Amino acid sequence: MRIRDIVITGEPVLHRRAKPVVHIDDHLRELVEDMFGTMELAPGVGLAAPQIGVDLALFVYDWVDDDDIQHRGVAINPTLLLDPLPIGELDDEDELEGCLSVPGERFPLRRSDRAILTATNLDGNEYTIDATGWLARIFQHEYDHLLGILYTDRLVEPHASDCREAISRDGWGVPGYSWLPGRDHLEG
Ligand code: NI
Repeated sequence: MRIRDIVITGEPVLHRRAKPVVHIDDHLRELVEDMFGTMELAPGVGLAAPQIGVDLALFVYDWVDDDDIQHRGVAINPTLLLDPLPIGELDDEDELEGCLSVPGERFPLRRSDRAILTATNLDGNEYTIDATGWLARIFQHEYDHLLGILYTDRLVEPHASDCREAISRDGWGVPGYSWLPGRDHLEG
């Protein structure tokens, strides 16, 4: 297992639709192992292949809920079905989201309460997870990565402006920036 560099917003691979995975082979299994290791060290609860510069439609996730149940898996060529977005005031604490490709920043964002993920696992079998709450949020965030969408692209004002300022202050939003979990100390 090798810890991979995580690319930062502005890197083109983050901003385009990822290519479908065609072969589940040793190369892909190694990639997934690296993604789990990198996500764990970052640390994060989800990581999409484009975030380590790999233009493929898969993500990994690993999150323990309030009942101590671990949700961990690989989603290859996923699709996602969403409930409509809840209406009402955005909660600046409970709906705070972050991304390892926009390290150190967090902004509130409305997400669907329920997301039905269908994807292929490393054995080549299709599975479906009917997720609610934070797991549904993780799936929406990671699935977006495969469409070339960062959560920062979905922010509403005033957070959208705050985010643009933060990214420009950090000097990001252009190609060529990355960080290495375990070496660089950035919070994501
Ligand atoms: Ni992210």
